[in-house]
Amino acid sequence: MVDTDSYQIVAYCCEHCAYGAADLAGGLRLQYPPEVKIVLIPCTGKIDTLMVLHAFEAGIDGVMVAGCLPGDCHYLEGNENANRRIERIKNLLEQIGLEPERVNMYNLSSAMAGEFTVIVEETTNKIISIGKNPLLEERLR
Ligand code: FES
Repeated sequence: MVDTDSYQIVAYCCEHCAYGAADLAGGLRLQYPPEVKIVLIPCTGKIDTLMVLHAFEAGIDGVMVAGCLPGDCHYLEGNENANRRIERIKNLLEQIGLEPERVNMYNLSSAMAGEFTVIVEETTNKIISIGKNPLLEERLR
C-alpha cells in the first residue's frame, strides 16, 4: 500500500562513506527526518538513470545520492560518473515535467555524521517545499 500523505525520499548511500556517516549518526543518536529511507549501495557509480527514474515513476518524492569525497572513491571514478549521471537525470526530469531539484548528489566521508544529518534535513525541507511527486497521484487515479 502506497502512503500518499507522507513524503518519501530515498538516499542511496555508498557503503564506504555516506552509509558509514549515516550509521555513525545513528550511533551518536543524531536526529534526522524519518522521510528519508537509506539504501546501501557498493558505490555511487552503481547508480543508473533507469533506477532513479523508476523510483520517481513509483511515486518517490525525492532522491539523494551520497558518495565518497572527490578523489576517495574506492572504484576510482564512481562518484565522478555518478555526478555526471545525476546532472543528466536532472535534465530528463525537467523534460518530463518534474523539478530537477528532486534529485541531488552529495559527497561525504564516513566520519561526517553531523554533515549527513544536515544534508538529510536540507534535502527533506527542499522536497517538501517543492511538493509531492505528481506521478504518484496520476498512478493512483
Ligand atoms: Fe564511495 Fe565510489 S566507493 S562513491
